[in-house]
Amino acid sequence: MNELISKFGEHGYLVSPDLIKSFKSNVDDFLSFVKTKYPSLDLVNTNIYKEYLNTASKPNIPFVKILKNYELTNESRDINHFISFYNSRFEKLKKILQNRPELSSIVSINKANSINLTNFSVIGIVNEFHETGSGNVILDVEDQTGSLKVIVSKNGPLINLTSELVEDEVIGLNLTKNGRWFFVNNIVFPDVPQKPIKKCSEDINAVFISDTHAGSNIFLSDVFQKFIDWLNCKNGNDEQKNIANKVRYLFFIGDLVDGVGVYPGQEEELDIKDVYKQYELVASYLKQVPEHIKIIICPGNHDALRLALPQQPLNNDYSAPINSLPNVISVSNPSYVNVGYSHSFEGYDVLMYHGNSFDFFVHNVPFLRKTGYERPDLIMEFLLKKRHLCPTHGSTLIAPSLSDNHLIIDKIPDIFATGHIHQSSVSQYKGVITMNTSCFQAQSDFMKRVGVNPKPGRVPIFNFKTRKTKILNFLN
Ligand SMILES: [Fe+2]
Ligand SMILES: [Fe+2]
Repeated sequence: MNELISKFGEHGYLVSPDLIKSFKSNVDDFLSFVKTKYPSLDLVNTNIYKEYLNTASKPNIPFVKILKNYELTNESRDINHFISFYNSRFEKLKKILQNRPELSSIVSINKANSINLTNFSVIGIVNEFHETGSGNVILDVEDQTGSLKVIVSKNGPLINLTSELVEDEVIGLNLTKNGRWFFVNNIVFPDVPQKPIKKCSEDINAVFISDTHAGSNIFLSDVFQKFIDWLNCKNGNDEQKNIANKVRYLFFIGDLVDGVGVYPGQEEELDIKDVYKQYELVASYLKQVPEHIKIIICPGNHDALRLALPQQPLNNDYSAPINSLPNVISVSNPSYVNVGYSHSFEGYDVLMYHGNSFDFFVHNVPFLRKTGYERPDLIMEFLLKKRHLCPTHGSTLIAPSLSDNHLIIDKIPDIFATGHIHQSSVSQYKGVITMNTSCFQAQSDFMKRVGVNPKPGRVPIFNFKTRKTKILNFLN
């Protein structure tokens, strides 16, 4: 009994004596429910527990568990924070790589020169790489003990893989030592293992949207209203209405508003120049969403909070009209949430990430540059392989969070949902469903200049029972 009291106490909760007697569940699961439903509560009792049991046993009542979320802290940061942030990132990714069978006889980099073996492996951060005049690639990798220059031969199959390399990522290398030269036999990315397929018996749906950019003069208000009407089963054919009827979750992956002063000359492209009013406009749509649908929102780079990742949940004065809605849950960018959990189903884990680093990789990674913004599935696959959302320092602004490294993909999601580049795609990589969740904004002059050709109004829908995804196009 005391153990239970102290467990609740560790999370900052007081617990009523009657609840202590009847409590038989997992404390973390229960408190995740309490935090979501009653954020300001600090005393839990049997009534809330009964509500939890009732909700958790009926997956038709949408249940959201927040697995990983960043809350803003006021800590000041200096160079030491960045050093420990990158050290911790290296250690976590190294741990993943150490389990890979392709990497045998792993040694620290300072041992590479003195080792007697001709064949061994190292794990390091990519410092730099370049092609030599003869077409080979010289790769410079580093760990906490030193750095090493290795050669990828232009004649081997690995040379193609060098077009996927980026600075600062953590990789494993299988090497052959020949005199004072080290030749690369294999480049191993942390990558994700094949994800086991989960089975859910509930015939319910989740829908994914992003990038409404309310306030912009090219916000597609009619198309967004058509989507909202469909959620209310007011339009569409019988099959489409049937899909809407089964929707229990609406994921909103950032850029709710266009914001103010986000890029030079933006004011020329705004209908609403007041951020408060932009959020009021979004809220006027979201309040039409039926209350049995949980709306899970993470911010994006146009939203009214700090730009650096991780971005804290959108729950400030600007977004108050949205957060006051009873079915809205605000989480950070990025974040992990679990939906559909019940006593008979573990729920689906969704990694929500707006996609702030996508532009950098589209412009700087040769193999992604080829397909550009048109293939968000390849960008997401690339990040899953790196097990990191912004593997290169400077790929987007970051504020190192010392409590946890939120940008590492440490947990393999069932669904990886992104927005930001206004494309529409649904794909799969090793059992992880990847999706880019379109937009409700036409092409701006700024997008024209940076080569973004948006695909608005296409909403991916995921069915929990069949695991099938479908895209409904509201533009037509
Ligand atoms: Fe956007
Ligand atoms: Fe964005």
